[in-house]
Amino acid sequence: MPEPANLAGTPDDAATDRTPSFRDPALARRFSEEGFVKLRILPSDAAIAIAGRVARLYPHGVEANQPQSNWYLGLIDDDRELALRSARLVRDAIVPSLAPLFAHARCHYASVAIKPGGAGATPIHQHWPTTIDPFARRIACWVLLSDSHGSAARFRLVPRSQRILPYIRHSRSGDYFDGFSEQVERRHARDLELSPGEAVLFEDSILHGTGANPGRQMRVAALANFVGVDMGAAALLPDGDDAFAVIDTGGRDGMAEFLEAGEWPESWRPVSRIANRNRAISEEEFVRLLAGNEAATLDHDPLDAIRSPRSRFSRIVRRAARLAGRWTGRGAPG
Ligand SMILES: [Fe+2]
Repeated sequence: MPEPANLAGTPDDAATDRTPSFRDPALARRFSEEGFVKLRILPSDAAIAIAGRVARLYPHGVEANQPQSNWYLGLIDDDRELALRSARLVRDAIVPSLAPLFAHARCHYASVAIKPGGAGATPIHQHWPTTIDPFARRIACWVLLSDSHGSAARFRLVPRSQRILPYIRHSRSGDYFDGFSEQVERRHARDLELSPGEAVLFEDSILHGTGANPGRQMRVAALANFVGVDMGAAALLPDGDDAFAVIDTGGRDGMAEFLEAGEWPESWRPVSRIANRNRAISEEEFVRLLAGNEAATLDHDPLDAIRSPRSRFSRIVRRAARLAGRWTGRGAPG
């Protein structure tokens, strides 16, 4: 990764070497308010040429390898040499255009992201934390490379949803919005249309998904993830029902080691434990949290202010009524 341009000052007074930020004040403001920005990163013809080079790495197409999804992530290909080649290709292609946008940032990892022809939309989801501080800003970049041949390539997200809950997605959890995921897609998400060379830069914890690929050819995108220049990499794994173990994945090189080896190195070790504050919420609470736009941390949950003791009591009463209904057979699901 090249060194960022040496511009004077930083637009974000709160930024430290642990939180990446945008050098341009207008971009920094938009990103802080909405949780994303859409930008052109490469000329269209250059992006399409890179997509062609990626496609040539996969002469027989790709198979989706993301659990419960429909797309291919080059980073986790069993063929480690291919994983490295594709990652290097997109890293060299997009990181030189992205890195100068940021202050206090380093590229955590890069990968190809390919949706096979005919694949449907990827449902709205939330990424897992990958840093020692799970709520430190991570900037994810999704860059469309290939020509979508007349059908718009869509990226879908819920503005401001990156801030609202201290919820930590992990391999065995559902999503906090499982109870109203259809409404999230229909009522709260916004579609962004991209052409080749355009990118969505978003807070890694924002709710997001991608549109279908109705064409016959694979749709090639590139991912790059930026974290604070001094931010350690970590995996957060459930440790009992009420805590997470923070696993130090080797300081700066966790993802790079994984990319090389394809498996977690033995040197990774638990360094701390944090409380599991995951809670499912209702759509009404979701709307109120988005409107409040208050940032969650491990020590502060904006949901506490919304769930007053009175509303907690009424929820307990409703739950008891439901259970009583089930017990007598009246409330059993059909
Ligand atoms: Fe994603």
